[in-house]
Amino acid sequence: MSLSSAPVTSRPGSVTGAALPLVLGNVTLEYPDGGGTIKALDNVSLGAAAGQMVSLVGPSGSGKSSLLAVAATLVRPTCGQVVIDGITTADLKDAELTALRRDKVGIIFQQPNLLASLTAVEQLMIGHHLRGRPLRAARSRALELLGLVGLDASAQKRPHQLSGGQRQRVNIARALMGSPKVLLVDEPTAALDHERSASIVGLLRRVTDEFRVATVMVTHDTEFVPLTDAVAVMRDGGLTAPSTGHNTSISEGQVGPFVPTREGPAGVN
Ligand SMILES: Nc1ncnc2c1ncn2[C@@H]1O[C@H](COP(=O)(O)OP(=O)(O)OP(=O)(O)O)[C@@H](O)[C@H]1O
Ligand SMILES: [Mg+2]
Repeated sequence: MSLSSAPVTSRPGSVTGAALPLVLGNVTLEYPDGGGTIKALDNVSLGAAAGQMVSLVGPSGSGKSSLLAVAATLVRPTCGQVVIDGITTADLKDAELTALRRDKVGIIFQQPNLLASLTAVEQLMIGHHLRGRPLRAARSRALELLGLVGLDASAQKRPHQLSGGQRQRVNIARALMGSPKVLLVDEPTAALDHERSASIVGLLRRVTDEFRVATVMVTHDTEFVPLTDAVAVMRDGGLTAPSTGHNTSISEGQVGPFVPTREGPAGVN
């Protein structure tokens, strides 16, 4: 089925799992809560194509971070499927999941969590080197990515010498070191002023296009939603249709939990 006009769908049956780097199918996640459970995700389905950027919006506590954690394979869902680059993750052991995450998934959180003692280039190299890659290759890729995110001149700086926006750029570059197929981004601009937020979202857009990653970005800044290809709206653990008067920039008349916000990537099948 062609997904070119609406590449994200709420119906897993209409998502060609093998063709999409990220597919969540009927995912439910329950956390223990006292004697009972809290349903953080309730039968959620979502797909993202290569080169597609999906915004994930919704009120606090609606399950956005939980969805990213499940998509990142950091948390196993109570039921439902998570398929990364055609690999069904439910079948994998923990060590295999770790390897899959390392090779296929880039994760960017609100706080960059950089190591205080390392320079920008070392922040990127360390994970790559731990993957068994030669130091020289790791260094050259790290410098290339720092250039791509506009930090050529800051490669030797430590976190305390960088601005918040620059630290987030290091974070983004680090997430790209493993050449991921999927990029999961949780409120990347929450700690930044407006100007820096706009440039970070612009960078994520460019990275999504250039690296052909499937990107899901949780954001409260709905003004950036139009920069993305589709928006998914979470409410009470489910993906719901945006209603009139909903506090987002989504226009009226659009139906379904996933709303294309600009032309999706051509030829995605
Ligand atoms: N580790 C956990 N254990 C128990 N409950 C959790 C856990 N993580 C999240 N929850 C609960 O799951 C629900 C969804 O939380 P989640 O963090 O996914 O929301 P969110 O949409 O990311 O919110 P915010 O916008 O505030 O970041 C909430 O009710 C939350 O309290
Ligand atoms: Mg959250």
